[in-house]
Amino acid sequence: MSQLFSKQGLFAVKSMETFRRDADNSGMKRSLTAKDVTLIGVGEIIGAGIFVITGKAAALHAGPAIVLSFIISGIACAFAGLCYSEMAACVPIAGSAYTYAYATTGNLVAWVIGWDLALEYLAGAATVAVGWSAYLKSFLASLGVELGNSWTNAPVAFSDDKGFFVPEDAGILNLPAMLIVAACTLVLCFGVKESAMVNHVFVAIKVSVILLFLFSTFAYIQPANWSPFIPERTEDGKYGFQGVLRASVSVFFAYIGFDAVSTCAQETKKPSRDMPIGIMGSLLFCTVLYIMVSLNLTGITNYTNLNTAAPLADAVKELGMNWLKILVSVGGVAGLSSVILVSLMAQPRIFMAMSADGFLPPAFGKVHPTYGTPMLATILSGVVCVLGAGFLPLDVLGDITSAGTLFAFFLVCISVMVLRFTRPDIERPFKVPGGPILIPVLGAASSMLLIVTTGGHTVLRLVIWCGIGLVIYGLYGYRNSHARLGEDEAKNGSAEHLADKKGDSKESV
Ligand code: ALA
Repeated sequence: MSQLFSKQGLFAVKSMETFRRDADNSGMKRSLTAKDVTLIGVGEIIGAGIFVITGKAAALHAGPAIVLSFIISGIACAFAGLCYSEMAACVPIAGSAYTYAYATTGNLVAWVIGWDLALEYLAGAATVAVGWSAYLKSFLASLGVELGNSWTNAPVAFSDDKGFFVPEDAGILNLPAMLIVAACTLVLCFGVKESAMVNHVFVAIKVSVILLFLFSTFAYIQPANWSPFIPERTEDGKYGFQGVLRASVSVFFAYIGFDAVSTCAQETKKPSRDMPIGIMGSLLFCTVLYIMVSLNLTGITNYTNLNTAAPLADAVKELGMNWLKILVSVGGVAGLSSVILVSLMAQPRIFMAMSADGFLPPAFGKVHPTYGTPMLATILSGVVCVLGAGFLPLDVLGDITSAGTLFAFFLVCISVMVLRFTRPDIERPFKVPGGPILIPVLGAASSMLLIVTTGGHTVLRLVIWCGIGLVIYGLYGYRNSHARLGEDEAKNGSAEHLADKKGDSKESV
């Protein structure tokens, strides 16, 4: 039993030195600059959050004060972003939060984060796919082709008071959302290089369309639409300051992705400088953009009109600018495709890292001999995501994604503090300002506050997901974890091997 809670048990760490050696032997090229990683961040960040969720969050929770929600959420992300920057500069290895946990708090927490990241990427990709379907519908409608609700809406909706229910506009399943996930999965099965090129084009389109939206609608802003700025609270989470806070959680989804910059650490020329610039730069750029978009959006129409699936496109149509509606819808379709693609590319790579560390069976890390991609892990991720996108509504998927990501942020902030005390000796090219406590504690506390604000149902779903993960960890991951087996044993290894070598027995753990 004592071994369970020891450095050979739940808290076995993979040493920083081992990580660095693996990274040096990985053969990955250091070719990315600070500008490259900032653009990767922007590409990953801008998506359904601004194109879809902003509208509902303003209409249902915050009113024009959605701007404040973006600021609150942006500040929480900045604390976490600084912690990610310290870790990515100091442990410049792919794997992000999963790697940091493995190097600091050990086996169990690394598993929890890896499992939690699966929630972030899979539910996240499904959320964006549902938004994609709405923008496709809006685009086709502007060309005169109407898609009905039956094959474009989820069969259920969710509200805090009713739970899951069948709404009036319920569909059979959301077919376009399922098809876009399936298409991205296919592209990813057959080559990553092609996917990266497609991604650059999509990113350029979506940023251009957002800038066009800002410039074209500026003259139509009516300041009367901003009054009252914070509408009076009508019920729990609806307007008033509590509503602003509730909307901060919804729009937090819009910021997810800056953490993905840290997964490029191994491929940057100078991680100590490029990581903080890439993480904080992309975050700052998107924060300014989001504040401007939300000011314009709530200025050109009354916030009560924004509860639609494609609020940016619908708001410009209301102004009579059908040409802009077409362009915004095209930007939405292209922009959201790139987020789905990148999320579905990231998830199999997390599975690969976990498999390489012994947490998952070797099949998860198997690379296809012809296409050089982790085929099985990619298909498995795609199937789970297709089902989520087809059957669940956007707000449920978005809240699950946000809660999962915030939990990863919480653990990364804690990891920064732990590593400062357990390994004060290692070189830290970038340190969070204000000492080892202030920013990490603010980051951990604000992440926790936002998780709790998502509401009991979402927290329960997060707990259930982690519970399923812990069962799998207990049945497989714990027994086969390489850090616990020790590096040499891991090369040959099995849990039985460890037991033999160390005179251990299954009963003793
Ligand atoms: N931040 C990404 C989006 O808004 C996940 O789609």
